[in-house]
Order: sequence, then structure tokens, then C-alpha cells
Amino acid sequence: MNYPLRTIQEDGDAAHRSVLILDQTRLPLETTFVRLQTLADAAHAIRVMQVRGAPLIGATAAYGVALGLAEDIPLETVVATLAATRPTAVNLNWALERMARVLQKSAMTGWRELAWQEARAIAREDVAANAAIGQHGVEILKSIAAQKGRVEVMTHCNAGWLATVAHGTALAPIYAAQAAGLAAHVWVSETRPRNQGLLTAWELGEADVPHTFMVDNAAGLLMMQGRVDCVIVGADRIAANGDTANKVGTYLKALAARAHGVPFYVAAPISTIDFACPDGAHIPIEERAAEELGVAGMAVANPAFDVTPAGLITGIITERGIVPADQLASVKP
Ligand code: MRU
Repeated sequence: MNYPLRTIQEDGDAAHRSVLILDQTRLPLETTFVRLQTLADAAHAIRVMQVRGAPLIGATAAYGVALGLAEDIPLETVVATLAATRPTAVNLNWALERMARVLQKSAMTGWRELAWQEARAIAREDVAANAAIGQHGVEILKSIAAQKGRVEVMTHCNAGWLATVAHGTALAPIYAAQAAGLAAHVWVSETRPRNQGLLTAWELGEADVPHTFMVDNAAGLLMMQGRVDCVIVGADRIAANGDTANKVGTYLKALAARAHGVPFYVAAPISTIDFACPDGAHIPIEERAAEELGVAGMAVANPAFDVTPAGLITGIITERGIVPADQLASVKP
């Protein structure tokens, strides 16, 4: 497989550390790396979606804490600045809370080095969790192949390696299938208005995974025609009851999947489960600018995410196995 670089990596030595990120606003046309040197750089990268996808946002926030402390900015300011960047992906808050908890347990004199270590651990654990998601998820694809002699997966947005530190969430089982010699074809929806489907098509193309780019609204027709064996999407925040926020349009795919008897899976690390959030109604939904729709002078609704009720989800593929959406307590850390 023509497998990619990591989306985020450290650079420099202990005296001058920085963080390199792959600029997703330039993809798929250009593969450009951006150097984050300050807290402001990290916050900007998350806000303008140079980095995106819940797990990668979490890892970037963790490195943002290390960068902020290296500038001698107080921890509370660092955390507040990063927390204000994007509201829905809970990995952001999860990473910030973990960083603050670990730092506050130790003497302030060691904070700078400790912050780098912990950010590194968060990134490393994301890679391991996503690899495990791939191994659990591939069993679903193997069983479809055994029953149908083909594997047709539909996904939405980008939940591939670009949305994480490596491997991806929803695409991890696809890559694991490819590594196991199992050919799967992926239906990739364009994901208006930010077109993250182009990122998915790009990374699948780089990895030589067969795929077809489709307009968002074709999902129902393709399922009705029997051309989809399962749907696998990622998640930005999963409430304790299994209701799942993911890129807007996910809910409509889940409804169509239920109508046509197509299994609908969510793939996400346990860091995306917000056990303090009781249900989907309590998940903050990011409302984005009208400019993203290319219009001006009219009322616009541009919610970046929607919520799929737990009852429409066949299972949640985590690093600890595939869990029914209403039984998340079984994987609570
Ligand atoms: O707004 P984005 O691009 O950061 O949102 C990302 C998503 O919603 C993806 O669908 C993904 O499934 C969640 S992160 C793996």
C-alpha cells in the first residue's frame, strides 16, 4: 500500500521544538506541511481546519498545550484558547483535560517537558487505537464478503488517516481489509459544503483502494438499488446513550440505511465517547459561516454536524471491540 506520512509530527530539538502538520486546506491539490511554533499557530490550525477530524484535533490541541507552555503562557489561558477553537469534536476537550490533569499532578518546573511527553503519548495512543479499530472492523467486512462475495462500503466525510494521527477510524477497517487481501469498494460522498469527500477519495486513491465519488444525495438511491453492503462513518462526539454527532448528512445516511436494511456502523476511539454527555440533544453543534455555501445576503443554515440516534446504529467499532450503541458503559475507562 502506498501508505501516507503521519498527519502530525514533532520537529527540532529540546531547545526549539515545533510541530509539523499536513495542511488539509491545500489537499488534494497540494501536499504542503505547515510548521506550528506557537499556541496561536495551533489554535489557528484547528479553527481554519488545516487539521480536522476529531482524533487529529485532539492530538493537535495536546501539542498546542506544549507549544503554549514553551511560550510561558499560563496553562489556564492555553487551555481556554484551544478549547474555544471548535465546539463539537469532544477529543479536543478530552485531550485538554488529560493534559491539564497530568500537568497539575506534577511540579510546575517540569511542565514544559511533561507536556511534550504527554502530547506524544496521546498521538501514539491514537495510532494504536485506530489500528485496533481496523482489526475489529475488518471482521465485519470479512463476514460480508463471505455472505455476498463482494464488499461495498459507503462512508461520509473523511474519517481516514487524514482525520487522525494515522490509520483513520471509519477507513481503518478498509485498510485492514486491503492488507488482508480482501478487496472492498468504497462509496465516497462529496460532503458539502467543505468537500471532505475529496480528502477521502484522495487518500483512498493514494492507497489504491477502489472507490467511487458520489453526490451526497445519491446515498438513498444507491442503497435502494442494493449497491451498498454496509455504511461505516466516523464520529465527532458520541453521547453516553450512543447518540452520535458526525458530519452533517450522516443522519440521512443512517435513515436510508435503516429503510433498506443496510447495517450502519460508527467507528471511533473511546476518546470520542463523552460519558458526561447524556444524549445527542446535549451535544453542541458547530454552526459555520454562510460564506462556506458561496452565498451572501440570505439566511443560511450551515450546521457542521448532525446527530444520529443510537437506535439507528448497528454497532460502534472501538479499539476494544464492536459495542452496541446502547451499551457504551462496557468500554468506559
Ligand atoms: O469538520 P471536520 O472535517 O473536522 O469533521 C470531521 C467529521 O465529521 C468526520 O466525519 C469524521 O467522521 C469524524 S473524525 C474521524
